[in-house]
Amino acid sequence: MTAKLIKGTEIREEILNEIEAEVKQIKEKHGAVPGLVTILVGENPASISYVTLKIKTAHRLGFNEVQDSQPADLPEADLLALIDKYNKDDSIHGILVQLPLPKHVDEKKVLNAIDPDKDVDGFHPVNVGRLMIGGDEVKFPPCTPAGIQEMIVRAGVETKGAEVVVVGRSNIVGKPIANMMLQKGPGANSTVTVVHTGTKDLEGHCKRADILIVAAGVPGLVKPEWIKPGACVIDVGVNRVGEKISEKTGKKIAILKGDVDFDEAKEIAGSITPVPGGVGPMTITMLMKNTLKSLKFKLGIA
Ligand code: GUN
Repeated sequence: MTAKLIKGTEIREEILNEIEAEVKQIKEKHGAVPGLVTILVGENPASISYVTLKIKTAHRLGFNEVQDSQPADLPEADLLALIDKYNKDDSIHGILVQLPLPKHVDEKKVLNAIDPDKDVDGFHPVNVGRLMIGGDEVKFPPCTPAGIQEMIVRAGVETKGAEVVVVGRSNIVGKPIANMMLQKGPGANSTVTVVHTGTKDLEGHCKRADILIVAAGVPGLVKPEWIKPGACVIDVGVNRVGEKISEKTGKKIAILKGDVDFDEAKEIAGSITPVPGGVGPMTITMLMKNTLKSLKFKLGIA
């Protein structure tokens, strides 16, 4: 059996088209567009490329987009003052501080300084708490877990009563997606197990999963024989395992590998995300969705 491919690149286009249409409607009716600022401190090449893509996507959708680049030695107090400025700016509905930050800056302090009502990353403790409560309380689900849930739903996979096994317990993926999948409601209502480096029988748990979400950051951690035949496999791992020359551009690019051995796993799973082109493209897409949502909350139409 060959699994159905859940392609993030295709789902991204569907969602971005939906957002674009909604932005146009809101602009006509309310004269407002979503505003997103991305704050980049320093010149980390991966961060520059992520932020550039975020801004490009926001521009395509008709958002008011601001890219605020700051030097690597920006004092923490100045960064906090900058966040305060955008917290008070009525044309900005989403504030994203690109991580990681330089070592002299306290990341927790910075994330906590963002107005929770503009925290489109969903990293502020208030939004983490809202996510835990679930239902109408949730304002901004964190982008990668929200993308994962959207992929599962759009792939037509039944979540109600499903055994969901999450591999990894990070604050950005593992913990929030586990929380989201156990909530009572559509696209969730699952029985959730979280496994991690302290788990005794990783293989045994994975083998029970109807939906296996792997976010461990260890290339090839999940072996094909751990996958239940017909299961839905979501591979969040993006591991750089080498470099190659791109056939398209002639430039050096990273060779990426997921946490699951894709070639063998696709012969066992019912549906599976590829790496690259799976979960990756969904994160920026959900950031755009959260920014639009923030404007809708402000206009009272969410
Ligand atoms: N760095 C890598 N991924 C992310 C993300 O989703 N949000 C922020 N703010 N920084 C990141």
